[in-house]
Amino acid sequence: MTDRDDSDSKSVDLSTPNAARMYDYYLGGKDNLAPDRAAAEMVLQIAPEIRIAAQQNRAFLGRAVRHLAEAGIRQFLDVGTGLPTQNNVHEVAHRTAPEAQVVYVDNDPVVLAHGRAILAGSKNVDILQADLRQPEDILGSPEVRDRLDFDRPFAILLVAIVHFLQDSDGPEEIVARFRDALPPGGYLVLSHVCGDALPDAVAPVMEIYRRSSTPIITRSTERIRGFFGDLELVDPGLANVSAWRPETVEAKRITERYPQGYFLAGVARKP
Ligand SMILES: C[S@@+](CC[C@H](N)C(=O)[O-])C[C@H]1O[C@@H](n2cnc3c(N)ncnc32)[C@H](O)[C@@H]1O
Repeated sequence: MTDRDDSDSKSVDLSTPNAARMYDYYLGGKDNLAPDRAAAEMVLQIAPEIRIAAQQNRAFLGRAVRHLAEAGIRQFLDVGTGLPTQNNVHEVAHRTAPEAQVVYVDNDPVVLAHGRAILAGSKNVDILQADLRQPEDILGSPEVRDRLDFDRPFAILLVAIVHFLQDSDGPEEIVARFRDALPPGGYLVLSHVCGDALPDAVAPVMEIYRRSSTPIITRSTERIRGFFGDLELVDPGLANVSAWRPETVEAKRITERYPQGYFLAGVARKP
């Protein structure tokens, strides 16, 4: 992997809760601090099932990457990587295809620092500090262009990141720019917090995230479906993360218990 000068990194504020570290806490990770844990605990008091939802979102990511690797995809652009945890994208992809190329992108310097430490010495993987709101900086970066061949099918992963875009950022236009970069046979994998689920809990939970450095915007099922544009959603279509090709009895039980999950997800192919 390449080492980059981070002098242009945004400054690290460890005293304000941050969604990447709160998510790490829900997943049972250790890369979180007292303010993150306090905010996450406040969320869990309102909606304890959010811990399960985060875990199911992570499991969806793993199943989607494995599905694509088994379908022959050998290139992955993962925007909104998150703190390294179990079953990171390159680990899942490399189990099926060790030659698969992976580029991770995140705008959080803490994520980058942990990612670089974990990936040091890893083959076929790169990590880039960039912002989803600047698609051209990502799609035109040397890390992406040197590692991924845009003439061959690749997968863009926008998993649990688009809800950090405010409406004023133009999320539809940003996601469309990534869809446009895909060649025929390429895939978009996207999950998003859905406001249709548990409406009573949404407002107070969003209020906690509003006070963090990473506010979340929930969106309706129809708006989330719109992010896939005219790509073809593979079976089962847009679904609660735990209902997307579940493999464990636990995931099936969770879907029965929370049929309207917090995260909706889909995997779609460019015809
Ligand atoms: C909840 S984590 C999701 C991690 C992983 N994709 C998953 O689903 O397990 C969201 C990640 O998106 C990153 N992120 C949020 N907004 C971003 C932006 N505008 N540009 C790049 N990364 C962003 C955060 O730093 C965080 O690491």
